[in-house]
Formats: sequence, structure tokens, C-alpha cells
Amino acid sequence: MKIINIAIDGPAGAGKSTISKEISKEMHYLYIDTGAMFRAVAYYVLSHGGDTESSKSVNSMLDDIDIDLRQKDGAITVYLNGEDVSSLIRTPEVSRGASDVGTIPEVREKLLQMQRKIASEQSVVMDGRDIGSHVLPNAQVKIFLTADVAIRARRRLAELVQKGENVTFDEVLKDMKFRDKNDSERAIAPLCKADDAIEIDTTHLTLPQSIEAVKKAVKDKIKKIK
Ligand code: DC
Repeated sequence: MKIINIAIDGPAGAGKSTISKEISKEMHYLYIDTGAMFRAVAYYVLSHGGDTESSKSVNSMLDDIDIDLRQKDGAITVYLNGEDVSSLIRTPEVSRGASDVGTIPEVREKLLQMQRKIASEQSVVMDGRDIGSHVLPNAQVKIFLTADVAIRARRRLAELVQKGENVTFDEVLKDMKFRDKNDSERAIAPLCKADDAIEIDTTHLTLPQSIEAVKKAVKDKIKKIK
């Protein structure tokens, strides 16, 4: 069977991971959350007394980091050196650290090799910032999800509050703006829409509507290439 790669990119809080999971379930493809890989690197560095803003500090630990993503019943489990860190990597501190380690070329190179290998072996839905533009330039389907930054912050706040995190809207908005800038302005593989990506703005869409819009775009595109 032909291997199909679906790339779903966009800024933090645009709904990438929820939508990607739904698409992967529908298509029976593997879901790869590349943000979780950057988060796992940041978590390792932070929990070993390192500095995520220092490439020297991060690079000195890179060889000690082994990341494995496993999918079970639609849920993704992230293993860092064999330990399940899935819930530990979702804090605001790790989000910021992930954005910082994402600016380091050696980190990107290590994760790029893993991401390309996985996508060459099976059909995947891979979400991130640079998947359509850099990691999988030949992906048959590329979606670029956007939404107004205040809406994205509101959605992320609801998620964090539900998980019991004690954060305010202003803190989440500040973090979103920091990450938008950091992720878009980095020198290597910044967040950007690939020329051949289909852009979907979810600002005025509910989650079910966003999922439907992406499903339709994916199916229409796959029909055309078959
Ligand atoms: O998708 P996310 O919010 O879990 O990603 C966390 C951070 O990881 C994001 O702010 C930047 C970095 N990242 C990246 O640089 N490239 C990717 N393909 C995915 C995430």
C-alpha cells in the first residue's frame, strides 16, 4: 500500500493536536506529535539542572536523550529514556523550554532524522511547525491551521485549567505571543506555511467544525492524488 504523509502545521493553540488525532483515527494512520519531542528534550534539560536557552547546556545532554512515541487506543504516550513523561511535558514551563530548544540546530537535526524515518516507514499524520515546509516537503497533504491569538490563548487556558494548572488568561496570552515570535523568527525551519499547504482559519469555528473542515480538506486532497 502506498505510504501517505499528512502534515499539519500552525502556531500554538490552533488545535493541531486534537485535530491531528481525529484525522489519524479516521484514516488509520499513525499520529506523530513533534511538539511532544521538543517538549521531552526541554523536560530532560530542565529536570537535569540545564538551561534551555543555552545551546551549550542543551547540546551537552543531547546524546543522553532517547525519545519514543507510542500510540495506544488513540492516545499518545511519550517515553523519555523509558519513562512515561506524557503529562509532565504539558506545563507552561516546559512549553516555553520546548520553544527555546527548538531554536537549537543540533536539537532540530536529531529530531528531524527521527521524524523523517518514521514517516518513511508508514502513513502518518504529523503535526508541528515546520512539517510541510521542511520535515516532509513531499507530504501529499499539507494543512496550515491558524486562529486569532486571543482565541488560541482562551482555548489553551481552558485546557490547562481543566488539568488543574493555576494560570491566568494574561499569562497564557503572554506565553502564546512569546512562542509565536520565538517559533516564527528562529533561523532554522521557522513556523511557516508551505506554498502548497491548505490554510484553515479556526477562529470562528467550534472544535467539531474545525475537525470537519480539516477532514474534508484531507479527503478532497487524497481523492485528487489517487
Ligand atoms: O506543538 P507544541 O505546542 O507542543 O510545541 C511545543 C514547542 O516545540 C513549540 O512552541 C516550538 C517547538 N516545536 C518546533 O520547534 N517544531 C515543531 N515541529 C514542533 C514544535
